[in-house]
This record gives sequence, C-alpha cells and structure tokens, in this order.
Amino acid sequence: MTKGKVDALLGIVFGDEGKGKVVDVFTPRYDVVARFAGGPNAGHTIIFEGKKFVLRSIPSGIFDEGKLNIIGNGCVIAPDLFMAEAMELEQAGYNLKERLHISKRAHLILPTHRVLDRAYEAAKGKNKVGTTGKGIGPTYSEKASRTGLRVGDILDNFPQKYEQLKNRHLQILSDLHFTDFDITEEEQRWLQGVEYMRQYPLTDTEIEINKALAEGKNVLAEGAQGTMLDIDHGTYPFVSSSNTISGGVCTGLGIAPNRIGEIFGIFKAYSTRVGAGPFPVELFDETGDKIREIGHEYGAVTGRNRRCGWLDLVALKYAIMVNGVTQLIMMKSDVLDSFDTIRVCVAYEKDGVRVTDMPYDTEGWNAVYEDLPGWKTDLTGLTEECQFPQPLKDYITYIEKETETPITIVSVGPDRAQTIARSK
Ligand code: GDP
Ligand code: IMO
Ligand code: MG
Repeated sequence: MTKGKVDALLGIVFGDEGKGKVVDVFTPRYDVVARFAGGPNAGHTIIFEGKKFVLRSIPSGIFDEGKLNIIGNGCVIAPDLFMAEAMELEQAGYNLKERLHISKRAHLILPTHRVLDRAYEAAKGKNKVGTTGKGIGPTYSEKASRTGLRVGDILDNFPQKYEQLKNRHLQILSDLHFTDFDITEEEQRWLQGVEYMRQYPLTDTEIEINKALAEGKNVLAEGAQGTMLDIDHGTYPFVSSSNTISGGVCTGLGIAPNRIGEIFGIFKAYSTRVGAGPFPVELFDETGDKIREIGHEYGAVTGRNRRCGWLDLVALKYAIMVNGVTQLIMMKSDVLDSFDTIRVCVAYEKDGVRVTDMPYDTEGWNAVYEDLPGWKTDLTGLTEECQFPQPLKDYITYIEKETETPITIVSVGPDRAQTIARSK
C-alpha cells in the first residue's frame, strides 16, 4: 500500500515569517493540516478575496472545507481564546465542527497560567523574555512537571481537577506576593470556552493521523513560532517553551521520523524579532524603521513593534541544519522593493573573533555584512518567475548558493494570489 507522508512548513527564524499564508496556499495539496506546537502565542495571517483572518490555535488549512484540521498533542490551548477564534470563523460562514479535531493530549492553558506568565516576567526584572502573556511558559512547565491538565480531562470530573490546579496556582502567586489581579470575568469566559470545546471531536489525533497516513493520505504540519525561538535550539532563555523545529513534528503529532517528507523552511527576505533577546542584525536607524513601516512589522498577537534588520545567513544556515530543510520559501520580498542596497549578514564578530556557525550565546555579537544591489522594482503585481528583475534573481541565487538549498517559492505580497512558484 502506498503510504502517505507528513510534510512540514516551519518558520526558521524568529516567527511571523508568513506561515499562515503559505499553509493556506498549500492546503489544496493535502488531506490533513495539523498544528504540532505552540498555542495562542502564534498569530498566523491569511488574506484572500478581500478577507483577512488572524489564526492563533486553529490550523491555517481551515478555509478549505474538504480538509481535516488537527490541533495536535504538542499544542497548548486556551478554551476562551479558542472559542473566540472559532466563533469568528463560524460567523464568517466556516463550519468548523465538521473539520477540526482537537487532541485529548494537548494541554490546557488556565487563566491562572496567564497570571503566572505575568508574575514570572515581572520577577525577571531587566531580563524579561517579553512573552506574549498567553501563559505558554507556565503551561509547558507544568506539562514537563506532570501537573498540567489536558484536553481529555474536560471529559471526566473536570470541575474538581480545575479547582485543584487553580488553587495550586493561587498559592504560588500568593507566595510570589503577586496578588493584584482579578480573574473572575476571565474565568467565566474560560469555563464557557470549556463547554464550547466539548462540541468538537476531542480525539486521539495521533491515531487518526497515522490511520490517514496508512491510507496514503498526506499531512501538512504547520509550524508555529520559529527555529530561533525553539526551546532547545533558539536563543535561550529568550525563546518560547516548545520544540518548534522539525523534531517537534514527530513528538507534537505522534508520527515517526520516517514519515516526514519535505521540510519547507520559510523566512522573510530580511529579519524581524518580537520580544527581547539577542538579535545581531537589528537596525536601530532609519533603515530599520523603513523596513518596519513598509513591512507593517507590528505583532499580530500583541501589536508590539517588531525589531527589524537584514537577512541573517548565520541563523538561516543553522536553522536549515537543525530542521533538515529541503526547500526554502522566501516571503515579503516586495518589502525590499525600494532599497538601493540590500545587505546580508554572513558572519558574526566579537572581540576580533569571527564566526559563521551559530554561537552558543548570540549576545554581544556584531553582524558582518555583504552588500548586494537592490532591484528597485515593484514586485507586488508579478505573477511569474520570468518577470523577476535581475537583481532579485541574483539575490535568490546568492542565498541558494550560501545555504545549498533551493528557494522554490517567492512571496511578493500578503494576498494568497501573490505567491510565485519557481521551477526547481
Ligand atoms: P506567521 O506567524 O508566520 O503566519 O506570520 P504573521 O501572519 O504573523 O506575519 C506575516 C505578515 O506578513 C502578515 O501580516 C501577512 O499578511 C504579511 N505577509 C505575508 N507574506 C507577505 C508578502 O510576501 N509581502 C508582504 N508585504 N506581506 C506579507
Ligand atoms: P508565530 O507562530 C513571533 C516570542 C515572544 C517572546 C517569546 C516567548 O506567529 O510566528 P511566549 O509567549 O511564547 O512565551 O513568548 O517568543 N513569540 C513569537 N514571536 N511569532 C510568534 O508566533 C511567536 N510566539 C512567541 O514574542 O519573545
Ligand atoms: Mg505570527
């Protein structure tokens, strides 16, 4: 029997690369689309036919009615935010209950996890991570310390389990002297969210996915965050709390490594980072402001300014290595349309030492650049690779040569239609 494969589409830098857009574009090729990590810290934007959606926990394959979407076991889910997100889609005419399954093994984010997120950040003083405040760290911590609640817990004696964990959190918060909060309303909405979630198939998604694969169906794993925010391989401790890399696809969906097919690594033609932590390519000048302005680089979840800089090949090569990226997808190329010169970071330098491999601690390194000519052409209306201006072709070839990985898609605008496939 022909067996199906799991392809993965992964952000390979600091997140917000445009994963939502490309998953939506790819969905017609797959039978199942599944999120394997993260939770409502993600904000995946999809724009088509004049409509715009920002998805947080729901996979970006949801707009294609024939496809099964899965929130996998590696995810964390906040019932109140899930309810709000799902109801917005239902109001827009999408019947989710027929096409969205949630893993019983995914962990629940409680309102008190969000308070703990704030409390831990406050306690960090100057070393704040700059989290999204969605309770991600505390929820994954409790998963690891085996005290968390899972979606499957909703189905059995839930009120008692909830009260028990909430009270534990309230005790920790009291010990931290973090008591200036009121979750009464939030808790009401959260409990409504739990009831709302019961209307969805809460299933053993790892079994469903493996059965689908055995039938020869194909699965697309939708990444969240990016490699440099991975708990093991990112710029620790300024990272998120899950494995965002390709290895996380196996643990986060319950599939074996030999099921993985293509690994699409998605990056922007430049760099951004939201939140604190080392970022050697960060531009503090008007060029950085110009990239932010043109690229609308403001967080989809928190509205914060995204920090901007030129493309970082040190980070990109590292990400390609740890993920096993087989194809690259370059996003937001149009944002660089008006620049005379485009810089690329090829190495980091500190105290006379130059490195091209990602160092253990990226703090305090300066970027070393090579310059390439800009294309000074409006890319947003292009539809085919043969229309690319020569300097864009040169930029693509340069990145492909440096990374030894083909760029098979170039995105020239936020709309589904502004996506150009290249011949390999
Ligand atoms: P994700 O988290 O990786 O799904 O990315 P986000 O949705 O957080 O951020 C990507 C932003 O860039 C969104 O506002 C998209 O609408 C937008 N976008 C995606 N691709 C392109 C592109 O090629 N050009 C431009 N100008 N915007 C894009
Ligand atoms: P998507 O899927 C960009 C960042 C936060 C913070 C750090 C830890 O849309 O690409 P957390 O709330 O996860 O504990 O925050 O990670 N971060 C993201 N940055 N895109 C994301 O998701 C992110 N999710 C978390 O800003 O620096
Ligand atoms: Mg995002």
